Amino acid sequence: MDCVETAPASAVTSLEDVRRRAPRLDRGAIEEVIRSGKRLLVQGAMGIHASDGLSGKVAAWRGPRLVGVGTISAVVKSEAHLRSEIRRARADAPSGFVGMNLMAAINRQEFDTCLRIAFEEGVSFVVQGAGISRDVVRTCREAGIPFAGIVSSGRLAKMYEKWGAEFLVAEGAEAGGHIGDVGHPLPALLAEVVASTSLPVIAAGGIDADDLPSLFAAGAAGAQLATRFLACADGDAHPNFKQMHLGKRDDDVVLITSTVKGMKARAVRNKFTEALAAGKAFPPRSKAWAYGKEGYHGRRKACVECLATDLCICRATNFQESFCITDALLLAALKGDMENGLFYTGQSVTRLPETDAGKLPTVLEIMELLESRVAAADWAEAPAAAALS
Ligand SMILES: Cc1cc2nc3c(=O)[nH]c(=O)nc-3n(C[C@H](O)[C@H](O)[C@H](O)COP(=O)(O)O)c2cc1C
Repeated sequence: MDCVETAPASAVTSLEDVRRRAPRLDRGAIEEVIRSGKRLLVQGAMGIHASDGLSGKVAAWRGPRLVGVGTISAVVKSEAHLRSEIRRARADAPSGFVGMNLMAAINRQEFDTCLRIAFEEGVSFVVQGAGISRDVVRTCREAGIPFAGIVSSGRLAKMYEKWGAEFLVAEGAEAGGHIGDVGHPLPALLAEVVASTSLPVIAAGGIDADDLPSLFAAGAAGAQLATRFLACADGDAHPNFKQMHLGKRDDDVVLITSTVKGMKARAVRNKFTEALAAGKAFPPRSKAWAYGKEGYHGRRKACVECLATDLCICRATNFQESFCITDALLLAALKGDMENGLFYTGQSVTRLPETDAGKLPTVLEIMELLESRVAAADWAEAPAAAALS
């Protein structure tokens, strides 16, 4: 795929339809799922198109032990593209839970636009990563949209509960993309967060099918997986993007310093990550190939100011240091440029069994596998279920 495509017209439903069918994923809805002996299986949002086309397919899953939840990434999408992705997911899962992920670090103007679209389209929840903001929790509450916070400590969990979040995602150091705290692996983090809050907690980071029963037994209301869904026949990501995540070993995975606030991020090692490790800078290049002549939200310069002022190291150093994250992620997911693209990934990439991008399972097959692993294990007496019964 060479440019940012939108969903076919046939997949787009009317705004009224969308509103009518948006189920809220709030604390009460999650507690009801748990009372029925099930857990949530959440597809984690993957920025800059990596998860486009997956959310509705995951949200459509309702199995004996798992309820699917899709999350659309809002970052660096045009207004039309974001609306189109939400409606496409709704068409795929008319009564499923479909949320929207917003990075706190993005340009404030786009952040507000994305929130407005979330309200207008009536998504099931808004989840925020890469930073925290009390304002956004308040705005979501006022608009009646459940808010979920991504946390890397019990302290943050307590703060979000006080502010009015409906549920939390405890994201451990094994996760893909930006990592809140590289020293905090998931099992210990989950225990800390569950002990710090009465809110439902979704576990995320490095999870594969075999891990699900123990996480549920440890009190998780659900699990969030992203990397597993990269190696999938469905989804719009370029075939080379999918191939880059297959057959990887521990030494194929690296931590880089992101241009976003200097956060650590996990990626597949390639020529680009090696150049970053050697201190090379990559100033922004024209994105006309991806956004067309109208530019990104009307911005046509090489730097489209996608991140909030001062949060982008590349911009803050007048393009002398770091790299343009939008260029690098677009090259990976849209162009499939295996040398110059940045391929974010989770630590569980080394456990993906597939090796050929031409023979990947569909979302449905992945969900069947996850469901079968949970069904085979006995976690009925898990603390989360016991606490709510
Ligand atoms: C390619 C990629 C892009 C991601 N982009 C985002 C993002 O834009 N916002 C966010 O909050 N999390 C993002 N994540 C994190 C995932 O949503 C998820 O929580 C995490 O990767 C879960 O760990 P796993 O990949 O090991 O399953 C991204 C992860 C990957 C692999």
